[in-house]
Amino acid sequence: MQRIFSGIQPSGVPQLGNYLGAIRNWVNLQADHECVFCLVDMHAITVWQEPAKLREHTLTQAAILLASGIDAQRHILFNQSAVSAHARLAWIFNCVARLGWLNRMTQFKDKAGKDRENHSAGLYVYPNLMAADILAYKATRVPVGEDQKQHLELTNDIAQKFNHDYGVEFFPQVEALIPPEAARVMSLRDGTKKMSKSDPSAQSRIELTDDADTIALKIRRAKTDTGVLPEDPSGLADRPEARNLVSIYAALSGKTVQQVLDLHQGQGFGPFKAALTEVVVNEIAPIALKTSQLLQDETHLVQMLHNGAQRAQAIAEPIVAEAEKLVGF
Ligand code: ADP
Ligand code: NA
Repeated sequence: MQRIFSGIQPSGVPQLGNYLGAIRNWVNLQADHECVFCLVDMHAITVWQEPAKLREHTLTQAAILLASGIDAQRHILFNQSAVSAHARLAWIFNCVARLGWLNRMTQFKDKAGKDRENHSAGLYVYPNLMAADILAYKATRVPVGEDQKQHLELTNDIAQKFNHDYGVEFFPQVEALIPPEAARVMSLRDGTKKMSKSDPSAQSRIELTDDADTIALKIRRAKTDTGVLPEDPSGLADRPEARNLVSIYAALSGKTVQQVLDLHQGQGFGPFKAALTEVVVNEIAPIALKTSQLLQDETHLVQMLHNGAQRAQAIAEPIVAEAEKLVGF
């Protein structure tokens, strides 16, 4: 059975892009993989997090994952900072990865923008920590949204250089598992930016704790054009907002973009948004409800994460200890 590693930042309330790009896949992959799921709090602090909020978001995130169908008994769910192997291997990878490789990472450019000098060093070496997260478990498959593709290529470059430098085939190559539909969900306010839980505008995203009325309002206010839905996908080519709403509908309903257009072509966005709202509410409302129930018992969630961390540590510790030996520590 192949081992999966995947992470999500407890830097806010998970949003629909996290769900379609990652969480829903995680749930399905549990059937035939050994899964390690991580709340990556060390990644989250690469940008400022209020300590109390970080703690709160970690628990909310854990509850949402359980409510979405993650099985923390059969698989592993824990937070990153609880297993020191991540930080130790990340330091080694900081010394393996080349500056030139990191300079090519588009996520850093997107996040840092023009004000590059004022960001944390952590934000810059983020991809090295991500490589450590995965390779500390020698995981071979990583379900992520399309935004993480470049970071996984870097992970493979790091594994290869480590193996070459130390003269052993130690770390495996990893494969990205990227969902075909809605691999990149875009902001509801700006079709050129990805939907993100850390976007300052809560109107830009559907959060997995939103109730039906909030979801309806956000979709009603989502930016669109004045056109109608075209007959085929080429008619969405230069209409990012329209394309985004159609692909969200497709991903949630299990249809292709073409099938959605077959059903809705010729419609304006008024009726299409109403149909989309129904599809989103059907999927998200039960998760929001279950999440609020799970959050009633924080002690149970904390205990569950603690147990997950111990099981994660049992896998990662010997692998990272071996890597440290290869380095000469
Ligand atoms: P965020 O930007 O919301 O903080 P994370 O960095 O925590 O997201 O990413 C968690 C997972 O969710 C990753 O696998 C990432 O690829 C996926 N993901 C995040 N945003 C999107 C999006 N807009 N569309 C598709 N997948 C996404
Ligand atoms: Na993020």
